Amino acid sequence: MSSLVPTAIPLNMIKPSVPYEATVLANIDIAPDCPDDVRHIDLDLGDSGLKYMEGQSIGIIAPGLDAAGKPHRLRLYSIASPRGGDAGDDKTIGLCIKRTIYTDDAGNEVRGVCSNHTNDLAPGDKVKICGPIGKHFLMPADATTPMLMIATGTGIAPFRGFLRQRARLPKDQRGPAFLVFGVRHSSALLYDQELRELLTDDGCAYLTAVSAEQKNAAGGRMYVGDRLPELQDAIWQLLAERNIMVYQCGLKGMEQGVEASIQAMAEHHGWDWAELRAALVAEKRWLVDTY
Ligand SMILES: Cc1cc2nc3c(=O)[nH]c(=O)nc-3n(C[C@H](O)[C@H](O)[C@H](O)COP(=O)(O)OP(=O)(O)OC[C@H]3O[C@@H](n4cnc5c(N)ncnc54)[C@H](O)[C@@H]3O)c2cc1C
Ligand SMILES: NC(=O)c1ccc[n+]([C@@H]2O[C@H](COP(=O)([O-])OP(=O)(O)OC[C@H]3O[C@@H](n4cnc5c(N)ncnc54)[C@H](OP(=O)(O)O)[C@@H]3O)[C@@H](O)[C@H]2O)c1
Repeated sequence: MSSLVPTAIPLNMIKPSVPYEATVLANIDIAPDCPDDVRHIDLDLGDSGLKYMEGQSIGIIAPGLDAAGKPHRLRLYSIASPRGGDAGDDKTIGLCIKRTIYTDDAGNEVRGVCSNHTNDLAPGDKVKICGPIGKHFLMPADATTPMLMIATGTGIAPFRGFLRQRARLPKDQRGPAFLVFGVRHSSALLYDQELRELLTDDGCAYLTAVSAEQKNAAGGRMYVGDRLPELQDAIWQLLAERNIMVYQCGLKGMEQGVEASIQAMAEHHGWDWAELRAALVAEKRWLVDTY
């Protein structure tokens, strides 16, 4: 049985008080037909020595001062590349960042501090980073463990890392992977082509819930939880045997629909969902990173 978890999980190697100035290698608009501006940003880690695992986050500190005259607080971004970076040479890190822009109650356009800094960066520019941060949203120690990954929007970031890491393993050493990805418009299906290619093994599945273009069975907007019944035959037994990792990343609101759907699955099979859920949580098989 192969193990994916290193003996030590890298953590807070670069402190926010002494951030590292990484260099932007690429800043790619990965949803060009979508009204939202979402970028895949690759950074050169230079001589930082930074190591990370898929599922961890990185801190970014925007330049300038906040309204109180203090340095901006750091913002967290999920790492979108596998450990060692896309090339596996420990030299890069990939992020997936949506530009925050909204209209406040007075009708003024407000631009989020950090995401407007990152998404305007050009190759060669510097960006202050720290981390890595977080150690609870990691891939299973045994890579043959099935994974159910549920994402909304930029919550797809860690799963790109997971699936790229999984693809590095020989076929007989990786378990089945199921991905359910929810976005508003099909133009916002981030990394769609590569996710499809990463999920071609027999028994794997990639489902999308496009809320503004598809309807659920009740005629409402199609959300990730509405897609889960389609996986029932593939995942129920794994859930019942507690032989699967369930990951949710993205909007906080997604949790309720996801849970209702899995609860219905359990009850359909005559199981007490509260008990099964408690066991999944206790065994760290039910992992949530939502905001
Ligand atoms: C663990 C973690 C991982 C994350 N990973 C990612 C990631 O991979 N990609 C990503 O893009 N983001 C991610 N985020 C979110 C990210 O940290 C920032 O919060 C986000 O980019 C906004 O930061 P900002 O500086 O641009 O905006 P800020 O200047 O911080 O402004 C954002 C604030 O504006 C307000 N606001 C925003 N939208 C509205 C609205 N529509 N109406 C009213 N008020 C509003 C809210 O108060 C919000 O807190 C993650 C967050 C966490 C905690
Ligand atoms: N590690 C982390 O914690 C992490 C990592 C990355 C991102 N994030 C967070 O994830 C969020 C993603 O935001 P985004 O702007 O990319 O997403 P978004 O585009 O606003 O939404 C993505 C999809 O989720 C749907 N949705 C809305 N409410 C839902 C609900 N209750 N249940 C299920 N689906 C729902 C949306 O549908 P409608 O809009 O059509 O209703 C849309 O289809 C941000 O808050 C970001 O900070 C967290």
